Amino acid sequence: MAKKPKSRSKKKVGILTGGGDCPGLNGVIRGIVRKCEYEGKFSCVGILEGWRGVMERNTMPLGVDAVAGIHHRGGTILRTSRTNPFKDEGTAKKAIANVKKLGLHALIAIGGDDTLGAAYKLSQNKINVVGVPKTIDNDLSGTEVTFGFDTAINIAMEAIDRLHTTAESHNRVIVVEVMGRHAGWIALESGLAAGADLIAIPEVPLSIDYICDVLTKRHAGGKRFSIVVVSEGAKIMMPGNMALSEVLKDGSVDQFGHVRLGGIGDALAKLIDDKTGLETRATVLGHIQRGGHPTAFDRILGTRFGIAAADLVHKGDFGKMVALKADKVVPISLLAGVKKLKTVPPEMYEMAKVFFG
Ligand code: F6P
Repeated sequence: MAKKPKSRSKKKVGILTGGGDCPGLNGVIRGIVRKCEYEGKFSCVGILEGWRGVMERNTMPLGVDAVAGIHHRGGTILRTSRTNPFKDEGTAKKAIANVKKLGLHALIAIGGDDTLGAAYKLSQNKINVVGVPKTIDNDLSGTEVTFGFDTAINIAMEAIDRLHTTAESHNRVIVVEVMGRHAGWIALESGLAAGADLIAIPEVPLSIDYICDVLTKRHAGGKRFSIVVVSEGAKIMMPGNMALSEVLKDGSVDQFGHVRLGGIGDALAKLIDDKTGLETRATVLGHIQRGGHPTAFDRILGTRFGIAAADLVHKGDFGKMVALKADKVVPISLLAGVKKLKTVPPEMYEMAKVFFG
């Protein structure tokens, strides 16, 4: 357990999780707390519900007892929110003042581009910040992979495997809508793993006529069922060059200005049914993709990220986030980690097309 126990009061390290929950978050929290305990220099405090906890100064003690038995659990014991501390000047000032009032030597923010973007802004205001990238979407450019993604694609793959049997038994087309926002990683990799007959992602627009054509030919060639995996942000082009997602938009946005996606699966299934005459159903996997136990890969990557984040705090190397590069966990600047969306490269989609139809 503790390598160098010290009796004098230790400096405090705050930990928060922001944005959507993600399998592996508890592994990161546990890694940070155990490493701080092991080194004996810092004590940890949990900030509850992401940046909302900073705004409300809502915290919990985070010793080794609090992180016992959490490694295998999904979600986050610190809970989370999509609160944006930099929503306006007033909230920004309050966030900066509150971090100081909490008496934190350093703050470790675990999140996606929104949470880490806010962490970067705090670091520009003389707050000691370290970031840990997380998202099931795998869309952060600074790291080769984010924890949570492996669990999400395995859940989606298993669901698609199951949908195969129903599609086969009923001679149906089944459209499976998966998450991923503006990146098609979940759709592409779960679709490839489960042998989908067509995959639609945001990076590559597909016309509705192309989709129907692929399916019609497949069925004319003797296949009696089809699985179509569609990313929630996919660009399905309608006659007149209007994207289907534009038709579905209801105008609602979160505190970071993101539109809420979802609904394309049902709309696409209806279009396929109408245009091809093939009996079609839609399944929306939704938050199931983020739920439940993390895979071994995500538990281990989360643990490695947690330990590396604690190391950065010990070294006083702030304004950085941890990232996976060539299988090594390395520090990179917070800004570099969030400034670009990591999307599916065209050559990967070309590879998937070999299996269409
Ligand atoms: O970023 C992760 C993610 O699961 C996206 O894939 C999805 O669009 C979004 O979060 C859903 O957010 P919420 O949980 O707020 O509905």
